[in-house]
Amino acid sequence: MKVSVIGCGYLGAVHAASMAELGHEVIGVDTDSHRISELAAHRAPFYEPQLPEILASAGAKGRLRFSTDIADAGGARVHFLAVGTPQKAGGYAADLTFVDAAVESLIPHLAPGDLVVGKSTVPVGTAARLAARVAEGCPGAMLAWNPEFLREGFAVKDTITPDRIVYGLPSDPDHAATAKALLDEIYATAIARDTPVVVTDYQTAELVKVAANAFLATKISFINAMAEIAEVVDADITQLADAIGYDSRIGRKFLNAGVGFGGGCLPKDIRAFTARAEELGRGESVSFLKEVDAINLRRRQRVVDLVIEMLGGKIYQRKVAVLGLSFKPESDDTRDSPALDVAVQLKGRGADVVAVDPKAVPNSMRKHPQLAYTEDLETALSGAHAVVLVTEWAQYRQLDPEWAARLVRRPLIIDGRNCLDPAAWRAAGWTYRGMGRS
Ligand SMILES: NC(=O)c1ccc[n+]([C@@H]2O[C@H](COP(=O)([O-])OP(=O)(O)OC[C@H]3O[C@@H](n4cnc5c(N)ncnc54)[C@H](O)[C@@H]3O)[C@@H](O)[C@H]2O)c1
Repeated sequence: MKVSVIGCGYLGAVHAASMAELGHEVIGVDTDSHRISELAAHRAPFYEPQLPEILASAGAKGRLRFSTDIADAGGARVHFLAVGTPQKAGGYAADLTFVDAAVESLIPHLAPGDLVVGKSTVPVGTAARLAARVAEGCPGAMLAWNPEFLREGFAVKDTITPDRIVYGLPSDPDHAATAKALLDEIYATAIARDTPVVVTDYQTAELVKVAANAFLATKISFINAMAEIAEVVDADITQLADAIGYDSRIGRKFLNAGVGFGGGCLPKDIRAFTARAEELGRGESVSFLKEVDAINLRRRQRVVDLVIEMLGGKIYQRKVAVLGLSFKPESDDTRDSPALDVAVQLKGRGADVVAVDPKAVPNSMRKHPQLAYTEDLETALSGAHAVVLVTEWAQYRQLDPEWAARLVRRPLIIDGRNCLDPAAWRAAGWTYRGMGRS
């Protein structure tokens, strides 16, 4: 199948390369010429495991091209929309400027029978509006909504072997049948593996995505709220999470207390959901998401407060080693990253912050040039008065406490992800503080 992918960021670049890997002929289009020149040379413009390998393999087979010219999408039968839907400046709602611009630029290059497939996360009602615009701009062209659930760090695996596929189809039965047949052909490999496919309408498909993210965010903030209580009464949140997680109705996943969630999806998606629900006159139905957001942001402050407390209130010109900058391990994405936020706040309080991350230093440096950065753990730790672990990269989780103790000035560690063994660190002479742990 000839397909185009409009928008080649964290979602679109992986989608384009994965579709080519699955045997489709793909043209990826983006307005960012640097991103496109990297992708055209089959180099990954950001860090995502397995992306370099599939770019190289699909590129070598001649099935994957990239362009900044939307006219090159002409001739494809299916056009995926994968542009960003960030939070609006000065508000909670999603900014749909990029989605609207992408559709407008694509319309002159559509042919009757073409299918536009939305993958971006959008407020409910967007697909119906865009479908009308596509039908008006190119009679006979159709639109479907096919939300994406990939996790950065596992994006290639999640795209090639998704845990479910959702089709939001047009209400016209003929168009729905054509769109479904095209999507079935696109996802034939996953479907042959018995991947569940939920076939539904636009509005359900749009809501599925935001509901999934709202649920995940709520689960994380739930355990972090319990951590706030545990801190006061000297209980242990990790044991609490283990104990409730044994109940299969609850489950242990996404119950790790820590510095909270971040990234380019969860924070802006729950805010956009709140804003859309208010527009629909149902603000109270998801008003709890404002609390979910507030709990999440308080955890960042809690880490900063713990550092200050452990340094006896004297943070000015104290060297603080911040381990991690990306919003999660195995990604260089620093959008709304709790780790970067903590580093910036500590700097703002007067600390001499040295932040270390194996992949996210360039992105962090562009946003916050005032911080000192390194990719070398030893440099970060040397002479530090306190160490804060805020992104649980494997190399930080596996840090040898005895080796680290020899490098620092004072053996104080704040484990913002509860990913270290407190007993091992205390045995090596460290004062250890976790989140929601005595
Ligand atoms: N990143 C994820 O893990 C993930 C997962 C699921 C869903 N999503 C959703 O996917 C969408 C994209 O997210 P992302 O993380 O890839 O964002 P991103 O910012 O990394 O990528 C968006 C890309 O779109 C390009 N773009 C903007 N306007 C364009 C236009 N008119 N024509 C062509 N290209 C254009 C930008 O240059 C950029 O490269 C968002 O709605 C997001 O919520 C993301």
